Amino acid sequence: MRIGMLTGGGDCPGLNAVIRAVVHKGVQHYGDEFIGFMEGWRGVLDDRTMPLSMSTMSGMLHRGGTVLRSSRTNVKKIPGGFEKCLKVLQDEKLDALIAMGGDDTQSISVELAERGVNVVSVPKTIDNDLSGTDACFGFDTAVMIATEAVDRLHSTTEAHSRVQVVEVMGRDAGWIAVTAGIAGGADVILTPEKPIDMDDVVRLLRARWECGKRFGIVVVAEGAKIPQIEGQITVGDKLDSFGHARLSGIGQVLAEEIEKRTGYETRSVNLGHTQRGGTPTAYDRMLATRYGIAAIDMVHEGKFGRMAVLKGTNICDISIADAIAQTRTVGEDIFAVIRGLQPKR
Ligand code: F6P
Repeated sequence: MRIGMLTGGGDCPGLNAVIRAVVHKGVQHYGDEFIGFMEGWRGVLDDRTMPLSMSTMSGMLHRGGTVLRSSRTNVKKIPGGFEKCLKVLQDEKLDALIAMGGDDTQSISVELAERGVNVVSVPKTIDNDLSGTDACFGFDTAVMIATEAVDRLHSTTEAHSRVQVVEVMGRDAGWIAVTAGIAGGADVILTPEKPIDMDDVVRLLRARWECGKRFGIVVVAEGAKIPQIEGQITVGDKLDSFGHARLSGIGQVLAEEIEKRTGYETRSVNLGHTQRGGTPTAYDRMLATRYGIAAIDMVHEGKFGRMAVLKGTNICDISIADAIAQTRTVGEDIFAVIRGLQPKR
């Protein structure tokens, strides 16, 4: 078969491992031929490709980013966009397309599948919030980076008797915040799904001071909601082509508010894209490889319009539309763990 591949949306460590697994099995077991579209759907619209072979895949397993590059290109917003895509896919004589991406990228896959394209999807989101799958590669790496940052910040924060706010990724779900926050022993964790009142933030930090610790660590997801802080904090007012604002800055706003209310000197650091950079963890390489092998098998089983997903410890597949239907948010069980570690109200 002749198969195309693309990576869309924000990159995640592990994308190259998926591509490599697809090519390895496709070439060696099925005799497939591959091309990669550059920069997600933009590469399909412009017919910009690169060859993908066993030799181009050499050294890819541990490399972060994506050899295919990525972009947030919304085909729906481009006049005649779907027709252009269909023509390119036909001109390239492709039998199937493997699309790696989150809900935005996959919403295009759904429409193309409805128009007869043989699409198979692989889930990808650093926020780990796609409802169809239990885990996305890249998340473990991001959590490891954020946890290490929280660990490192402890000593300097304690040395200066400060509060340190650490802003992490998480637009609609606070998975990175709760995981790195619990693993790193943060005193307060703020997420998009469970607004926390400033009075509560102050109560928790004061309790920490009163027990003699005299320093505090706060982990906040970029999309966290705080009743006393209006709306989400963004950079500029531009929206991307899928209508998302660029979230950033809640950490600084929160730090100022904490200092004002408590009198404790408070600093903030935004981990930003460091969370998505560099080499994937072994767990992410393994998960990405499993997704890649599943995706190429699905192509040969004719499972089009479907996404490879992790359920428990097994990889299986569900319809792409179902997989992206909802955001997988942090559940009450995890919030109960956080509360269990904090002083009782
Ligand atoms: O959607 C995943 C994500 O990492 C969000 O957590 C974040 O808001 C966004 O992407 C940032 O993406 P970029 O700045 O690369 O466009």
